[in-house]
Amino acid sequence: MSPESFDSEQQFRLIVETVPTGILLVDESGTIVMVNISALHQFGYERKEVLGKSVEMLIPGPSRSDHRQHRAGFKKAPQTRSMGEGRELFGLRKDGSEFAVEIGLTPIQTAKGMGVVASIVDISERKRLEMQLRRAERLAELGTLASGMAHEIGTPMNVILGRAEYLFQRTADEGMKKGLATIVTQVERITKVMNQLLAFARRRAPERRAVDFGEIVDDSLEMFQERIAQSHITVDKTIESSLPPVRADRDQLIQVLINLVMNSIHAMPEGGRLRLSLAREGSYVCLGVSDTGHGMPEETRSKVFEPFFTTKDFGKGTGLGLTVVKGIIEEHGGTIAVESALDKGTTFWIRLPLDEAQTASKCET
Ligand SMILES: Nc1ncnc2c1ncn2[C@@H]1O[C@H](COP(=O)(O)OP(=O)(O)OP(=O)(O)O)[C@@H](O)[C@H]1O
Ligand SMILES: [Mg+2]
Repeated sequence: MSPESFDSEQQFRLIVETVPTGILLVDESGTIVMVNISALHQFGYERKEVLGKSVEMLIPGPSRSDHRQHRAGFKKAPQTRSMGEGRELFGLRKDGSEFAVEIGLTPIQTAKGMGVVASIVDISERKRLEMQLRRAERLAELGTLASGMAHEIGTPMNVILGRAEYLFQRTADEGMKKGLATIVTQVERITKVMNQLLAFARRRAPERRAVDFGEIVDDSLEMFQERIAQSHITVDKTIESSLPPVRADRDQLIQVLINLVMNSIHAMPEGGRLRLSLAREGSYVCLGVSDTGHGMPEETRSKVFEPFFTTKDFGKGTGLGLTVVKGIIEEHGGTIAVESALDKGTTFWIRLPLDEAQTASKCET
């Protein structure tokens, strides 16, 4: 096709239609008189649904009246500018959802009066990445802080603990013994918070090798045997036989199980049932940790992986247990999800990729 085969009108239309930016032409009264495909995609409409309609249909309710005023202002002093400088702008899709936008406005004189060309860029992905980055930066800072603090606080804590235990053994005075026992418990509490913080900072590089996940589940459960029996909890364990190994850091997976099982035990103070299941799902292995405890309302459920989020009494929970669990699982290329029903119980689902090299060689033989 030679360049001459397009007239200038056609060329103009083609360009406007194919640019990745959403483009709208709005007349003096705020009616949409032209819209390109990108804008239709952004807002989820068909062309006939927007042409001839007020541009305010694309703006979320709370900002609509402001927009009318801005439009009147723009009419009085038309100039090319970006809209909403210093403010966050949102577009409203047909399905009612909103997305972050950046909008440029250019006044144009048409035969029917002053029009405005609005160019719209969907910046929701950029916003998401910015937020992720800010979060990662905050967590990295926290990691550095935690390691520093663990060192500074850990050493004197050990001295206090050692002295308190020493005095405890040397005295026969019951009141003194009680006081010293309190010191020991409180120091142990601080040490627990520090250890969680350190695990969270995870300065140690993971050591991955092919490990038997079923064995890890067995070993972790064994640590809790006494605790579980005392708490009137029955355990139900289903581990699929001859599961291929996963490539993982054994200690980290044990930590994952300890944190999940601890949470379940805490959620069943009156006893209940703890279910652990391990089964293959394609190239993944899926671990389910399920309890019949007090469960959580949706508001709690949505926050459980946030650092320092806890519903436990002051000093009882650090709120880092599940943050650590999620960090470890994601570092292993896996995923974690939680389902919960208030007063019924909670299930955590973990999926870890199987060790591909081992699985493949097994299939071949
Ligand atoms: N199995 C569960 N049943 C009910 N709620 C749970 C369960 N597991 C976690 N939660 C909720 O999630 C919150 C966060 O859990 P997380 O393990 O991160 O911290 P924590 O248990 O409060 O503190 P820590 O793990 O340091 O002792 C808990 O305080 C609790 O409200
Ligand atoms: Mg916990």
